[in-house]
Amino acid sequence: MIHQLIEKQLRLAVASIDPPVDPQSIQVVICQESQYGDYMTNSLMGIARQRKLNPRQFATEIKARLELDEYCESIDVAGAGFLNFRLKTEAIGQVLRQAIANGDSLFEKAIHPRTYVVDFSSPNVAKAMHVGHIRSTILGDCLARILKLLGHKVITDNHLGDWGTQFGKLILGWKTQLNQAQLEIDPISEMERIYKSLNAACDADPALYESAKRELANLQAGDEANLAIWKRMISLSQIQFDQIYSRLGVVFDHTLGESFYNGRLKSLVQDFTSSGLAHQHEGAVKIFFDDLPELKDHPAVIQKNDGAATYTTTDLATLEYRLQHWQPDEIIYVTDGRQQLHFKEVFTAFQRWMPGHRIKLNHVWFGSILGEDGKPFKTRSGEVVKLSELLNEAEERAQKVVAEKNPNLDQATQKEIARVVGIGAVKYADLLPNRQSDYVFSWDKMLSFNGNTAPYLLYAYTRVRSIFRKLAETGEAFESTSMPEKSRLEAPEEIKLAKHLLNFGFALQAVIADWRPNFLCNYLYDLAGFFARFWEACPVLKAEPPMRQTRLGLCALTGQVLKQGLEALGLETTDKM
Ligand code: ARG
Repeated sequence: MIHQLIEKQLRLAVASIDPPVDPQSIQVVICQESQYGDYMTNSLMGIARQRKLNPRQFATEIKARLELDEYCESIDVAGAGFLNFRLKTEAIGQVLRQAIANGDSLFEKAIHPRTYVVDFSSPNVAKAMHVGHIRSTILGDCLARILKLLGHKVITDNHLGDWGTQFGKLILGWKTQLNQAQLEIDPISEMERIYKSLNAACDADPALYESAKRELANLQAGDEANLAIWKRMISLSQIQFDQIYSRLGVVFDHTLGESFYNGRLKSLVQDFTSSGLAHQHEGAVKIFFDDLPELKDHPAVIQKNDGAATYTTTDLATLEYRLQHWQPDEIIYVTDGRQQLHFKEVFTAFQRWMPGHRIKLNHVWFGSILGEDGKPFKTRSGEVVKLSELLNEAEERAQKVVAEKNPNLDQATQKEIARVVGIGAVKYADLLPNRQSDYVFSWDKMLSFNGNTAPYLLYAYTRVRSIFRKLAETGEAFESTSMPEKSRLEAPEEIKLAKHLLNFGFALQAVIADWRPNFLCNYLYDLAGFFARFWEACPVLKAEPPMRQTRLGLCALTGQVLKQGLEALGLETTDKM
C-alpha cells in the first residue's frame, strides 16, 4: 500500500541522519482533514524536539531526502512540523489495477505473525446463554476473525463454566425433582427450573441445604453416579450452546471448561503458599497486593475456608496450561466489565508466579445491553432474554422488512435473506458502539435501511453484486485483468472512493490496536457512503471504455472490501435483498 511506501521512505531518511533514529518511531497515518493531504506524519516533531532542532526546519530537511515523486503529488511541511502527503491519482489507479490483476487484498498481512489465544463466550453449564454472553461471543469471534485475516495464528478457547458449587443443588434436584419429559424438550430450561426450585427450598430448609452440600462433596470426591449426572448436564448444555454457535457461525478450536483444570488446583495452591506468594488468612488462602493501590483492599482468594478452590485459582491454572501448550504471545479475555478486578488480580498474580513469562494479557471488557427504557435488557415479563429467542425474533422481524422491500422474491429466498439480515443486524448493533459503553437494544434502529446498520451495508453489497449480474446478462464478463493501463480516475467521486479503498488496512489495524471493532464498522459505513455517491454521479455500465472498465474495477474492489470487512465482523453477505 502507498502509505507503507511513504513510511518506508521516511524511515530510510531518518535512519541516515546522524545519530540515526529508530525507524519504528515513524508512523504515517490518515490525514483527517482531506484538504491538507491524504496521509500525514507527526513523528518528526518528537525527534526534532529531542534533538533540540527547529521542527519545521527538520521536517523540511527530511522532506528533501524523500523519493516519492512517483506516488505523491505534493508533500507539505505544515503546522508545528508535520508532513502532509497528497497522492497522485495515477499512483492510486496503479495500486488498484494491480490488486485486481493479482486478486490481492487491499490490506497487508502481518510481517511478524503472532500467536493469540482468544478466550470468549464461556457460558455456564445448565443455564441458558443470555444476552450478557452474546456480547462476549460476537466481540470475541470478530476479534479472532480479524486477527486471522491479518495473518496471525489464533487459538479460540471456550472456557465453559462447568464446575462450581451450583452442582450440589443441581444434582440433588436432578435426583429428586427431574421431569424427564421436559428434559427431552428443553434441557437447559428444565435444569434452570430444578436449580431455582432447589435454591428456594434450600433457603427454607437447612437440612436440605446440607444434602445439597453432600452431593457436591460426593461429586468432588469422584462419586460415579454424581459424575454421570454432571457429565450429562454438560453434554445437554453443550448441545444447546452448539445450536446457538452454529446460528451465529462461531467455532472454537477448544472448549476446555473450568473442570478441565481441577486436577491442578490443589497443587497450585501449595505452590503459591510454599513460595510465599500466598498466605493463610482467616482460614482461607489469599494473595495480597499491598504494594498496588488499586488491589490493596482486594486480596485474591485462591482457596476458600471450606477448602474449595476459586474462579481465580482456575484462571491461574488455565494460564499455566495455555503457556505450556500453546506458547501464545498474547491472550485476550472477552467478558463484561464487572470482571475487571478479577482479571487485574489474575494477571498480577501470574506475573509474580512466572515473572519470566512474556505473554501480553488483555482483558477486553464491555458494557451492558439496555432495554429502550434504559434499564438492563429484559423480556416484557421481566425475565432475562434468552439468546435463542432473541435470534428467532431477529429473523422474524427481518423477514417482514425483506418482504416489504422485495415482495417478488419467493418465500424460501426471503427466509434465507432474513436469516442473514436478522443475525447480521444483531451482531452489527453489538459491534458498532464503543464496547465499553452500555448500549440500548433497539429492533427498529438495527433493522433500519438508513444509517449505520447491517441492512444498509448488506444492501450496499447487493448493489455491487447487481452490477455484475447485469453485466453477465449482457454476456460480458468482467475480466480480472481488464482495468486498463490508460484508464484514469477523474470524477471526484471516483477518486474519493478509490482513496478510501486504500485505507482498509488502517481500519483493521485500528481494531486490533485496542480491540475495538467499531473502527471497522465506521470504515465500512463510510465506504458504503462513498460508493453511494459514486453510484449516483458516475454511470458504470453506460459509460464508454476505458472509463467503463475503470468504474467496474472500483465496483469490484468495493464489493471485495465490503465482503471481507463484513465477514471479518462475523456477518454473512447475500447477493440479493
Ligand atoms: N463463565 C464466565 C461467566 O459467565 C466467563 C469466563 C471468562 N473466561 C475466563 N477465563 N475467566 O461470567
